[in-house]
Amino acid sequence: MASGSERSPECGGAFVSQQWAREEGFALPRAGDLGECGAAFTSEQRAYEGGFALPRAGDLGECGAAFTGEQRAYEGGFALRRAGDLGECGAAFTGEQRAREGGFTPPQRAGGPGGGGAAPPRLNMDPRVTAALREVGIPYRENEPLSKHTSLGVGGPAAVMAFPRSPEELRRTLALRKELAAPHRILGGGSNLVVVDEGLDELVLNTRELRHVAVGADGVVDAEGGANLIRTVVRCCRAGLAGMQSAVGIPGSVGGAAVMNAGAYGFSISDVLREILVFDADGEAVLPPEGWRFHYRGSSIPEGSAVARISVALRPGDAAELGKQIRELQLERVRSQPGGRNAGCVFKNPPGAHAGRIIDELGLKGARRGRAVVSERHANFIVNEGGARAADVLELAELLRERVARETGVELEWEVKVWRRSA
Ligand code: EPU
Repeated sequence: MASGSERSPECGGAFVSQQWAREEGFALPRAGDLGECGAAFTSEQRAYEGGFALPRAGDLGECGAAFTGEQRAYEGGFALRRAGDLGECGAAFTGEQRAREGGFTPPQRAGGPGGGGAAPPRLNMDPRVTAALREVGIPYRENEPLSKHTSLGVGGPAAVMAFPRSPEELRRTLALRKELAAPHRILGGGSNLVVVDEGLDELVLNTRELRHVAVGADGVVDAEGGANLIRTVVRCCRAGLAGMQSAVGIPGSVGGAAVMNAGAYGFSISDVLREILVFDADGEAVLPPEGWRFHYRGSSIPEGSAVARISVALRPGDAAELGKQIRELQLERVRSQPGGRNAGCVFKNPPGAHAGRIIDELGLKGARRGRAVVSERHANFIVNEGGARAADVLELAELLRERVARETGVELEWEVKVWRRSA
């Protein structure tokens, strides 16, 4: 990665970022905006890599630095000062981070990005869980806001979030969870997820540290479950391996993509999947005798199981041609889908139709609940304008479902996953 991607939003940095973006095979968000959008694009790139979306669609010139700050905040495990304060908080956070690095105590912080300022409630979890994680040396955080780990940026805290760094640590975390009978969930890239505002009294296994990718000369690519899908696709294309380029616009982890059988432009990840290592909720490697089955936006991999690794088989291709294709696909995605904080398409497409078109034809673009709004660019997306609650998103989606059912007779099915508290 060019060192310019670390620079602030000035011209030099902008140019280097742009050049780097091109080299990496990404298209710039808006033609013409060269002077401004470099740093913003770099941030967007980081957002993609981290599985996060930009705060607001049109705000590329402004939100770059802010997002970088926000992203750093995520990476450093800090909460943002105020929910909607993206324009201000980038520099503020950087200052705070510097203070910490220099050994100074930064001023007191307020709540997380989705939390609206108030400190989230502390949740219940058997203290033996954190004791066991500590003992085996698996990193974890308590009371960790899920809004920091989802592209939509809503959701209350997880009682405990563990960050296994290898398939073996993933297996051990699941095994100790079984021993202690701790309820749990698996978090991939968080790019297709709405978590309720109340948070979860559960152990969330965050797979983001499982990100090793090995590109074999024979066209076989092994990627750990938490590896970022877009980065993996770009790497394969640069290595002259074809077959996965259509997935270049899909945020999230490769493991999440496999479970959801993610796809775009006629491609689904199951088209190239060769092997998949899945641990069940108890940490046992599982493979049904008939193999895993995949269908439109779904698979037979059960909830609570974790994808430790996938292996895809690609075919030789021309790196320059593949680079061109992924640039075009990126541009097409930027043209037809919103930026900003969202969780991708909310509903599955009903057979022979498009949920987005149906919602659009009912004039529901721009419908809102609080800070959650139906995208003007694509009606099957709900965007968090900053400070939305999960309740706003869920109410708005329910409103869309009801209107579509009442006026067209079509029953839309959720595509996005919703994590509610267990009864
Ligand atoms: N359309 C409208 N209004 C809208 C949105 C779409 O009229 O607001 C029309 C378009 O003009 C087009 C048709 O609907 O004629 C289809 O739209 P698009 O090409 O955007 O595809 P889609 O069916 O809405 C699917 C996937 C997307 C994927 C795109 C591109 C689902 C639910 N959605 O969208 O995947 O990126 O194709 O391949 O399968 C996702 O899974 O989260 C997702 C966004």
